[in-house]
Amino acid sequence: MNAPMSNLSDSTSRVHFHDLKPTPADMRAEVLSGLALPQKRLSPKFFYDAAGSRLFDAICELPEYYPTRTEIGILRRHGAEMAARLGRDALLIELGSGSSLKIRTLLTALRPAVYMPVDISGEHLLRSAQDLAAAFPGLIIHAVCADYSAAFVLPVEHHEHPRAAFFPGSSIGNFEPPAATRFLKRVGEVLGPGGRLLIGVDLVKDIRRLDAAYNDADGVTAAFNLNLLTRINRELGADFDCGAFRHDAFFDVGQSRIEMHLVSTRPQRVQVAGQAFDFAEGETIHTECSYKYRVDGFHALAAEAGFIAEQVWTDADALFSVHCLVWG
Ligand code: AVI
Repeated sequence: MNAPMSNLSDSTSRVHFHDLKPTPADMRAEVLSGLALPQKRLSPKFFYDAAGSRLFDAICELPEYYPTRTEIGILRRHGAEMAARLGRDALLIELGSGSSLKIRTLLTALRPAVYMPVDISGEHLLRSAQDLAAAFPGLIIHAVCADYSAAFVLPVEHHEHPRAAFFPGSSIGNFEPPAATRFLKRVGEVLGPGGRLLIGVDLVKDIRRLDAAYNDADGVTAAFNLNLLTRINRELGADFDCGAFRHDAFFDVGQSRIEMHLVSTRPQRVQVAGQAFDFAEGETIHTECSYKYRVDGFHALAAEAGFIAEQVWTDADALFSVHCLVWG
């Protein structure tokens, strides 16, 4: 990690930007160790450079990708009730805030003392925080560029305010369940006793709908997946031939997860940061898991981490769920 740095970054002085992002050396070490595994792997957190964040925003608008619009519908319908659970005047931490679109549905009712979006994609985070500051005059924003999946310290503590967290989008599904439990425990420890977490969780459903959501007709998800190789070429001096890999995504019923892979379409050798990696034709790099839960299964996971499930909201078709969890 870089040394924490805080600076005021917009003319209104209401957006404070804290750069705790991983260094290129952190990324290099993680990419090299992932590619050395028998099943080659790359962490989905590396999807989100500037281009990847834009592609993800485009995914959220796709007709096939139901999670975003369904979750926003739930937030709009039940926002007042959710805000009442979380309480006003909180230090509100949003993990993986991206474009900070979903929090807009709750901010008026929530009236946080401080809003702290945390995201790994720095430029995108700062731009989104500035847009939000313009739309919500008076809102104090501390934007934190950090890998929220790793332990990190809050750059400003604000002990005078109760804490609440918002973790939408079913990003919890991108963790393997044991890692999800460890992550939730860390969030709980940051929140402290009685702290509440509002979390979006995608639900198990018809396989065709799941497959379509990760194999859209316009190929946006494929471009998002392949952008990972473009990023590694640029940032780690690699020589992936992006035309020699293709996107693959499927639902594994036994594991209750979507798996995304990049499939090598021919035998090839790739150089990454001075190391050679061989690919057989058809060999894959596993780039993402997206676990889908049942409500009781997710509550069991939350309980293992130390959270008590207080309330759950779903849409009429039970595609998606939003949970209020209490730490302690
Ligand atoms: C961020 N995350 C919850 C998305 C998901 O659905 O797992 C990422 C994504 N991958 C492909 N499409 C969207």
